Amino acid sequence: MTLNELTDHVSQLFAKTFGRPPRWIVAAPGRVNVIGEHTDYNDGFVLPMAIEFYTVMAADLSSSSSSSFFDTLFKETAQIEVSQPVLRGDPKWSNYIRGVIAGFQQRGEKIPALDVLVHSTVPLGGGLSSSAALEVSTATLLETAIGKKVDPVEKALLCQKAEHEFAGMPCGIMDQFISVMGRKNHLLLLDCRSRRTELVPLDDPSVAVLIMNTNVKHELTGSEYPTRRRQCEAAAKILGVPSLRDATADALEAAKGKMDPVVYRRARHVIGEIERTVHAAEGVRASNWPTVGQLMYASHYSLRDDYQVSCPELDAVVEIAKAIGVTGGVYGCRMTGGGFGGCCVALVKADAVEAISKKIAADYKKKIGIEPTIFVSRPAAGATVIKS
Ligand code: GLA
Repeated sequence: MTLNELTDHVSQLFAKTFGRPPRWIVAAPGRVNVIGEHTDYNDGFVLPMAIEFYTVMAADLSSSSSSSFFDTLFKETAQIEVSQPVLRGDPKWSNYIRGVIAGFQQRGEKIPALDVLVHSTVPLGGGLSSSAALEVSTATLLETAIGKKVDPVEKALLCQKAEHEFAGMPCGIMDQFISVMGRKNHLLLLDCRSRRTELVPLDDPSVAVLIMNTNVKHELTGSEYPTRRRQCEAAAKILGVPSLRDATADALEAAKGKMDPVVYRRARHVIGEIERTVHAAEGVRASNWPTVGQLMYASHYSLRDDYQVSCPELDAVVEIAKAIGVTGGVYGCRMTGGGFGGCCVALVKADAVEAISKKIAADYKKKIGIEPTIFVSRPAAGATVIKS
């Protein structure tokens, strides 16, 4: 479904639910990270792109004092009293929305009561940033409703804060930044220290980005993510640097004896991954797809062996893709996002997409016993106001 078709659909759903057409429609995309995993909270580089899957919100002013957010997936309404400071509450999914409203209130904005229909095509729990899409969509709706734009960096940080404080997930800045700042046909090279961004064109029609959802989600992410963050901080402390961005592979080797072996491996991943990300961006600029592909495999193995955030299902997809190889049209493949399930991303020859998808689906089913979901996305635009 194109964004236009999706918008029409959501507009109709709003009319059916609230009995009148919407006054505003906004959309914010999910993302896939091409390379640069678990580097954002280490002040490193990431190279994500927004995908053609969106959280769309259609809205109008409400005649009541509280806002109603009806979510079409959960088929339930979150009532949020906006005349007072918004706090955490039920249902659980509404906390992403609540956190963003609270962020606007803390900036001194008075938020009007709204009737909102929320409809998302970003798969939930697939590691494609459905939560960032929900946050950024909310922020974009609030900007539209109050008639004031927030600076894009501030907006992304406000959404990240919502995730920290209202969803209890101590994420980095990647997901919210790309959902705000994505650009059609471009990857976003983000320096997570300076927050400087560079758009890297990915518009070569001969290559495609394939996204493969393992359709498993191991419930480890909650506890493992903060543990990884702490291990990285511990490594930086031993190395005497503010963050692993400032560490070198040589310094790490020299300090190996002073470090817990697990902490050492975590740091080895991060230091190597930051370097791979910068090289991959150069590879994309030069359309050097085999090099980018090799860096993607190296990233996966490092996440699997040193960072230990992969799982058998993600490894299976990568091994199947690797076996197809460049001759079969696959340049590279890796897990993407936080890990422990969710999706893999592959860079492939555009004219081989169908054959590759079929082969991966069949082999994955044979090996794991479940169907993966496989799709292609061009790099999409970040958050947009469709009707204002
Ligand atoms: C999650 C977080 C991001 C990032 C990735 C790993 O998606 O939300 O900030 O840390 O994991 O790269």
